[in-house]
Amino acid sequence: MFSAFVKTFLGVATILAATGAATAQASCTLSSLGGDDAPRLLQAVKSCATTVIPKGTTLNIATRMNMTGLSNKRIELEGTLRFNPDLAYWTGNGFFIPFQTQITFWLLGGQNIVLTGGGTLDGAGQSWYDAFATNSSLLRPITLTIFQAQNVLVENITMINGPEWHNLVNEAQGVVYNNIHINAVSTSSHGAQNTDGWNVYRSDDITIKNSVIVNGDDCVAFKPNATNVLVENLDCTGSHGISVGSLGQFPGMFDIVQNVTARNIKMTKAQNGARIKAWAGPNVGSGIVKNITFDGFVESSVDNPVVIDQCYMTNATACSQFPSNTFIQDIVFRNISGTSTGSVVAALTCSPDGRCSNIEVDNFNLNSPSGTARFTCSNVMLSGSAAELFPTCSET
Ligand SMILES: *[C@@H]1O[C@H](CO)[C@@H](O)[C@H](O)[C@H]1NC(C)=O
Ligand SMILES: *[C@@H]1O[C@H](CO)[C@@H](O)[C@H](O)[C@H]1NC(C)=O
Ligand SMILES: *[C@@H]1O[C@H](CO)[C@@H](O)[C@H](O)[C@H]1NC(C)=O
Ligand SMILES: *[C@@H]1O[C@H](CO)[C@@H](O)[C@H](O)[C@H]1NC(C)=O
Ligand SMILES: *[C@@H]1O[C@H](CO)[C@@H](O)[C@H](O)[C@H]1NC(C)=O
Ligand SMILES: *[C@@H]1O[C@H](CO)[C@@H](O)[C@H](O)[C@H]1NC(C)=O
Ligand SMILES: *[C@@H]1O[C@H](CO)[C@@H](O)[C@H](O)[C@H]1NC(C)=O
Ligand SMILES: *[C@@H]1O[C@H](CO)[C@@H](O)[C@H](O)[C@H]1NC(C)=O
Repeated sequence: MFSAFVKTFLGVATILAATGAATAQASCTLSSLGGDDAPRLLQAVKSCATTVIPKGTTLNIATRMNMTGLSNKRIELEGTLRFNPDLAYWTGNGFFIPFQTQITFWLLGGQNIVLTGGGTLDGAGQSWYDAFATNSSLLRPITLTIFQAQNVLVENITMINGPEWHNLVNEAQGVVYNNIHINAVSTSSHGAQNTDGWNVYRSDDITIKNSVIVNGDDCVAFKPNATNVLVENLDCTGSHGISVGSLGQFPGMFDIVQNVTARNIKMTKAQNGARIKAWAGPNVGSGIVKNITFDGFVESSVDNPVVIDQCYMTNATACSQFPSNTFIQDIVFRNISGTSTGSVVAALTCSPDGRCSNIEVDNFNLNSPSGTARFTCSNVMLSGSAAELFPTCSET
């Protein structure tokens, strides 16, 4: 009943699975033909249930790929997709992402999609890092954007040298990232800036686990309307931490981050460990950060191991005059250990007027290289042993 044969289809070696009547191509294998491989990859993914990029093959992605509206697709990336660093092309043609004025190389969306295979997404970021050093308004592409998607698995993938964020999850539900390696390192004096591991935006039911990240900005960031997110077993080096926010930046917008757990996180040589940041001051937005748990962080040489900053980008005078409209409640920092770089190991800075509530701090073992570890806070009520740890925090 089953027969398979190979034919050439737009330069794609295609294996047809036929059970009597013709069916859609079951599996397509791509090779590099020189020039831009993006149109063939796009065509293959649209036509075939499984698209294979074999080990040893590097596809040159020189034009943007709109892979939205897919259904039941598997992309078996054993080789490499390399995003051609033609800065003029991408700044003019990358898909525009209105949130924080961004662009992306690749939109992947629809339902029941698997991206796997042990291969690599190479953002060829060095040209971008160097160009950004002389043009701080340069639009740099996000490597992979999961957009308007349900039930997506991204597993066993390496991402190197993204020009900017490596992953954006935008308007998606049910996305799992497992066993991802991210490495963004500049070889010049210009850093790999803003090379976040993941940003989750307007998305629900997202898991990021068992991954190793070396980068130059947030390891994972929960942006407006990230809900029901689990982050576990990550090893983050050089990053800006696991961050909620910044939230409440844009006037007229209401930002929600709720039901987030980040656990078993190793954080090394980072700017922050576990962090929540919300804007205060005049002309900002509003929102709520609720039910966030940071549990089991092992930190080493981290500038700010534990942070709440509800006066983000706002000085103390302005923050008391214009407290944050982004309320923070039901937050747990538990089992956080390791060392800072400076004397302050934990800083809980809330706006006045009870805008932080039910903040729990439990089982801290944080040390400072200077000998005296400082735990600072303002406008937070702590109880029990936590209140002893943070001497100024039994007052409001
Ligand atoms: C991407 O393709 C879809 C059709 O699948 C289309 O509706 C959408 O407008 C395209 N998006 C962009 C940003 O071009
Ligand atoms: C900097 O980048 C922006 C956005 O990509 C671009 O519009 C502008 O022309 C660039 N400026 C220079 C001096 O190249
Ligand atoms: C990822 O790799 C593991 C170990 O090789 C394998 O068991 C798993 O099936 C792979 N994932 C996918 C989606 O193929
Ligand atoms: C977040 O969700 C709330 C409730 O659905 C909505 O009012 C708000 O506009 C959303 N905010 C953003 C930034 O999408
Ligand atoms: C808090 O969030 C966790 C997921 O991080 C969820 O399992 C739990 O039910 C939530 N608790 C409440 C009271 O909403
Ligand atoms: C948070 O989790 C609780 C308990 O599971 C659930 O009732 C609530 O709807 C969740 N909140 C959001 C925004 O999903
Ligand atoms: C504290 O966190 C570490 C690192 O994640 C973990 O190995 C340890 O079991 C946790 N301890 C408790 C009491 O949960
Ligand atoms: C605090 O910020 C306000 C508003 O941005 C500014 O006008 C003021 O000069 C700042 N005060 C100090 C002490 O920096």
